Formats: sequence, C-alpha cells, structure tokens
Amino acid sequence: MSYIDLDRVSKNFGARGAIDQLSLHIEKSERLVLFGPSGCGKTTVLRLLAGLEVPDMGEIRIDGRVVATAGKNLVPSEKRDLGMVFQDLALWPHMTVQQNLMFGLNARSIPKREAHVRVRELLERVGLDHRIDAKPHQLSGGEQQRVALARALVTRPSILLMDEPLSSLDDERKLFSWTNRFPVSTTNASVTSPRTC
Ligand SMILES: Nc1ncnc2c1ncn2[C@@H]1O[C@H](COP(=O)(O)OP(=O)(O)O)[C@@H](O)[C@H]1O
Ligand SMILES: [Mg+2]
Repeated sequence: MSYIDLDRVSKNFGARGAIDQLSLHIEKSERLVLFGPSGCGKTTVLRLLAGLEVPDMGEIRIDGRVVATAGKNLVPSEKRDLGMVFQDLALWPHMTVQQNLMFGLNARSIPKREAHVRVRELLERVGLDHRIDAKPHQLSGGEQQRVALARALVTRPSILLMDEPLSSLDDERKLFSWTNRFPVSTTNASVTSPRTC
C-alpha cells in the first residue's frame, strides 16, 4: 500500500469515459507529474483525488484510509488534508490576497493570530507580501498563480495537487523553485499538457 492509491478507478461523464480503470500508487513525499494531451483525463484524476468528483468504479485511498469507492465519496474534500492549485486558479475575485489565504485557515478554526503569521510568512516566501491587500484582478497572471499556490499551502496540507502549473509561463521556473522550498513531506501530484512545455 502506498501513501496514495487509486485502484482500477473509472469515471464517466454520461456516455463519455474520462478515466478507465486507472491504477496509480504514489509514495509519501513523491512528486508525480501526469503528462498527456488535452482531454485525456488529467484534471479528472486530480478532482477525484481532491474529492470533487465521485468515482464510478474502483477505490481511492489516502494514507491507508478509503476516501472514495464506487459511487461514493467517504471522506469530504476538506477532510483529505490536501491543497489544490486549479488550472484557472479560481481565486475569489472579491477578496484580497490576504482574505483568499485566510479562508481555509478560518474554515479549519486556526486561531486568528497564528493565521495572520502563517499568511505573512507564506506571502513573503512567494515574494508577494507587499501585495497582501490587492485583489486578484490587480495582479499579473504569474502573481495570481503564486497567490493560488500560497492559498493551497497555507493550511500545510500533506498533499499538493497542481493542475497545469506551467500554464503561466512568465513564472514557470520560479513556481518550481518555490514548490521545491516547501515542506518535503508534502506529496505532490501535478498534471501538464504537452502544449505547455
Ligand atoms: N464535468 C464534466 N462533464 C462532462 N464531461 C467532462 C466533465 N469533465 C471532464 N469531462 C470530459 O472528460 C474527459 C477528460 O477531461 P479532463 O479530465 O478535463 O481532461 P484533461 O485535464 O486531461 O484535459 C474529456 O473528454 C472531457 O470533455
Ligand atoms: Mg485539464
């Protein structure tokens, strides 16, 4: 058994098959990149892991716990101890950078003082502490991507999922150097289409 296991997982959207009996085993602290053409099911794999989709068949385990099985999510997204950077980033447009990062900490009832320290610390690490009060539309694409990364990491998840992390090419190299600096215990699965390389 690995830290993350997908056993013969299938997912269909109506008649369209997105994933067909996929088995995948990821060890703790491993970094795995799923690479494939558009439409081959990469995002669906991440969404299944994140608990945002329900598998039709198969089983998903994280840290030895069955989190999803055929037709059922047994552990909700917020209880899977993971952070996700979405392809479209999905920052909340009406919230400042600080508020975007505080959201997950508030949901986990992290005391205010500690939450503020964590947000500051993480924004410094991604070089955005001076933009703490900015709204997403006031930031460049690369800066927005760094906010999304900081938001995914601020809760100190055991697993980091990143969908097309190379899509904002201006910050591509920096993004990878930043993720390398984050906790080595974080297991990382990311997906990339050939067109972004
Ligand atoms: N919510 C959805 N409803 C219907 N079809 C979907 C949905 N999400 C994904 N699909 C289909 O599933 C397949 C895999 O999609 P996706 O996982 O997004 O691929 P990738 O990320 O590799 O580009 C595609 O054919 C896509 O059209
Ligand atoms: Mg995708």
